[in-house]
Amino acid sequence: MNHRPTSPAAAPFQISRRSFVKRCALVAAATGLPLWFVEERLAAADTPAPKVLSPNDRPAIAQIGCGGMGKVDAMNAHNFADVVAVCDVDETHAQELVAKLVAAGSPAPKVYRDFREVLARDDIHAIVNTTPDHWHTLVNLGAARAKKDVYSEKPLTLTIDEGKRVVAAVRDRGIVLQTGTQQRSSPRFRLACELVRHGRIGRLLHADVWLPAGLREGPFAPSAAPASLDWNFWQGQTPAVPYVKERGHTTFRYWYEYSGGTMTDWGAHHNDIAYWAIGLLAPRTVESRALAQPIPGGYTTFSEYEVKYTYENGVVLNIRTTTDDNIFGEYVRKDGQHNGIKFVGTTGWIWVNRHEITASDPELLRAPLPAGADRLPVSNNHMKNFFDCTRSRTAPICPADVGHRSATMCHLGAISLRTGRALTWDATAETFVGDNAAIANRYLAREMRKPYDYSFVA
Ligand SMILES: NC(=O)c1ccc[n+]([C@@H]2O[C@H](COP(=O)([O-])OP(=O)(O)OC[C@H]3O[C@@H](n4cnc5c(N)ncnc54)[C@H](O)[C@@H]3O)[C@@H](O)[C@H]2O)c1
Repeated sequence: MNHRPTSPAAAPFQISRRSFVKRCALVAAATGLPLWFVEERLAAADTPAPKVLSPNDRPAIAQIGCGGMGKVDAMNAHNFADVVAVCDVDETHAQELVAKLVAAGSPAPKVYRDFREVLARDDIHAIVNTTPDHWHTLVNLGAARAKKDVYSEKPLTLTIDEGKRVVAAVRDRGIVLQTGTQQRSSPRFRLACELVRHGRIGRLLHADVWLPAGLREGPFAPSAAPASLDWNFWQGQTPAVPYVKERGHTTFRYWYEYSGGTMTDWGAHHNDIAYWAIGLLAPRTVESRALAQPIPGGYTTFSEYEVKYTYENGVVLNIRTTTDDNIFGEYVRKDGQHNGIKFVGTTGWIWVNRHEITASDPELLRAPLPAGADRLPVSNNHMKNFFDCTRSRTAPICPADVGHRSATMCHLGAISLRTGRALTWDATAETFVGDNAAIANRYLAREMRKPYDYSFVA
């Protein structure tokens, strides 16, 4: 846990230079990060936050979506806020989270099924949205209308059109929205991006993103939905179909109807880092190749694929899937091709993932960046950064526009795969242009099943 005391009564952090250096050496050895970077990071972390809060200043929040990640998000948020409401269309998941919160010393939160009743509560300041991808936008738009700050899971949206609406709503309502791409709050990924941006590997030629392959399974048979689950509500804007277990909890991400496969699931994380390092709004062209076809009656997204993006400045972003890691990103074959990002430049390369950062020459990491170098914004705890920003009213490390653009990279790949076409993207107009534009532009938005269209939260 990364909770630090924020009370004005808390003593400022004071240790001797010797123990500070020792602590940095230990952290560097444990994380594989270079010493200079660790020293800089820990020194910054020990600087008191600009605005000191009173001990009682814990905002009241709601957790919407209480499945696998919802429980993780809620317990993280519980470090900084009081979770006074939990909401899920599956009563079992909501009650499981209530039990966890109570076990952690929280008063029992109120349980809801319809998030609109949560948003109507005046005493709730912020929400954490951990619903499946096809529900992110309506919950986020509803929250923006109710002027509640939002921590929203990735990928921020199901479609590019949704992203434009969310960015506009966040801006117009003046709310803080943090996208749940927590790799931006990892010093390892930030270091990689800073070094690439500063030309440590020369001129960037290409970035190679490896994503875990998805699932290729089926056909699946319908069955009776669990009594605790409101299957119609769960499906929301998507076409109504009989309940199939694999369409629901956890594995929804391998269905195009609800998500985009690992292209949007893991892509939301690693493409976000590629976007941070490359620093350009979007690629100009995208082409792709499906390496395996979905099984009829089974998951509807491609499990293995290649996508190639080209930017205006000639930089190429290659996305490929690997079966050497499992769908959770865990290493299956130790010496195989792991998920992560390799930045290749004219004079060297840097590889980074959730476990390591390495380079063609260790000196590329070891040498500090020059004093006065233009650095990236710092967050070392994604949830804390969100709550800090709800107080300072400043942009969090991954605000709505960044979350939207990172999701757009994933959607562009998914659209190219679905259409089987090479496509050209106009990042300013947010539309496809040139060959195949008419076909591809049909994928920018999806028909929303009533009553779960935009009027649901109007
Ligand atoms: N940041 C990360 O590293 C990370 C990791 C895992 C998942 N996620 C994201 O979190 C989201 C949820 O993934 P998960 O694995 O927890 O899925 P899950 O299926 O375990 O949980 C989703 C929950 O949302 C509930 N739900 C569905 N519609 C709802 C609605 N309208 N209102 C309230 N609750 C609703 C479901 O009943 C379920 O309990 C996804 O968008 C996923 O991409 C992020």
